[in-house]
Amino acid sequence: MTMNNYTLLKANSFIEENKDKVVQDYRLNYHFAAPTGWINDPNGFVFYKGEYHLFYQFHPYNSEWGPMHWGHAKSKDMINWEHLPVALAPDTPADAGGCFSGSAIEKDGNLYLMYTGIMHVETENKTQQVQCIAVSKDGINFEKLKQNPIIDTSSLPINAVQEDFRDPKVFERNGIYYSVIVSKTKQETGQVLLYKSLDLINWEFKSILLEGQEEHGVMWECPDLFELNGHDVLILSPIQMPRKGHDFHNTSSSIVMVGRVDWNTGKFVKSTLQEIDHGLDFYAPQTLQDANGNRIMIAWMQMWGRTQPTHVERHGWAGAMTLPRVLEIKNEQLIQKAINEINHYQTVEKEYHDIYLENETKTVDSFSEPSLRIQLQANLENAKTFFIELPKNEDEKAVLLFQVEEGVMELSREYIGSPILGSEDSTLVKRTVSIPLIDNQLQLDIFIDKSSIEVFINGGREVMSMTIFPLKAVHEYAIGVNGKVTIKELQHSSIHVGE
Ligand code: FRU
Repeated sequence: MTMNNYTLLKANSFIEENKDKVVQDYRLNYHFAAPTGWINDPNGFVFYKGEYHLFYQFHPYNSEWGPMHWGHAKSKDMINWEHLPVALAPDTPADAGGCFSGSAIEKDGNLYLMYTGIMHVETENKTQQVQCIAVSKDGINFEKLKQNPIIDTSSLPINAVQEDFRDPKVFERNGIYYSVIVSKTKQETGQVLLYKSLDLINWEFKSILLEGQEEHGVMWECPDLFELNGHDVLILSPIQMPRKGHDFHNTSSSIVMVGRVDWNTGKFVKSTLQEIDHGLDFYAPQTLQDANGNRIMIAWMQMWGRTQPTHVERHGWAGAMTLPRVLEIKNEQLIQKAINEINHYQTVEKEYHDIYLENETKTVDSFSEPSLRIQLQANLENAKTFFIELPKNEDEKAVLLFQVEEGVMELSREYIGSPILGSEDSTLVKRTVSIPLIDNQLQLDIFIDKSSIEVFINGGREVMSMTIFPLKAVHEYAIGVNGKVTIKELQHSSIHVGE
């Protein structure tokens, strides 16, 4: 048996000794990031005993992906997070190669984590992905089950490969526990498998919930399945989903399918499919149901296969989460809005009404700390292009540009920070999305937080999320138009979490 020497004790001591050495330049204020090291997917996002818990894929020791641990934090409102000790380290035979993504659920007052273990198979000199459980009575200290793995590769359907079987999302329905787990087929497509259990420990394979086609990428990751507004909603993160129009330009995409599960056959029938976020940095979203029954989603605000400026510049950390978003399905389409809890941390700095601009670019406001929110509503009846340089300094700017006739919004980091290289065919510096306007109205809710921008467009019908790493401090934003525009309302707020 090959065992590494990773332990919780080692991880927690490393964090304690190194957390104050992390370089603050690009650290976000109101977004979640780990105390040290690298993070990717949100895991085990759950409401448990009156608090929200967020676990995450974590390599505490440096700012690159490495043997996966589960970091852990909790919060009363999903905005202000308190770091907790690392929950899982790759320290047992079933997960010695890493504790990969998974989810959490409460049963009889205990918190169960269901995750993927990377298990070495000595006899074959390879690894398998298997599913494991860890249980906690206090929501802080977790004990891995002796029975792990509780689902091994012997249960896989015949068309599945053993190396790619991961990211269980567990939920309860009518007193039965289910888990959706992704798997790669021998034909290099993704599929979602549905497993079933009465006690979270003994699991049986129920069905192939959904099989992907070539047009849905070579593998799926991080499934999530829930009911919302009378629909069944399936979220997936496909790898190498082929580009289609403005969609799926990143190496890895996140998609939502709205449809219906037939619980007798265990099959999902989709009626719509959408890319969830049209920015450059959004992946592996996971949802929970909050204390009021709302469906809340959070995602990793970063992308695989790209250079990470905070790693290149040795800042000691890499990766953050998006703002949590509240979801709704309207006309079988996903609507996303920033959760209301963010309002408690914002101070309205400026409010303007009826700003009229004609063929000009106007610096609107300056700020000292770029953790802010800009909300505006504009009438674009007589405009050709409308843009916001957000944020900027004398030499750099991120640009949000709307081309009215084409009905296309573009978000670009071409003119800000040093280039971020990616594994895509050519370096991606911007993304675009179609935005059909109703009565020529454009409504924007923009969140900027030092090294991130999230733009919610027209009531959350589309969202674009992107990281930026300006070389010099940014201190203002400007609005411009080709043609004429009336900005009916513009509100600029600062946001601050912490002392
Ligand atoms: C998605 C993913 C998961 C996997 C984890 C490993 O970003 O590749 O499929 O469990 O990250 O860190």
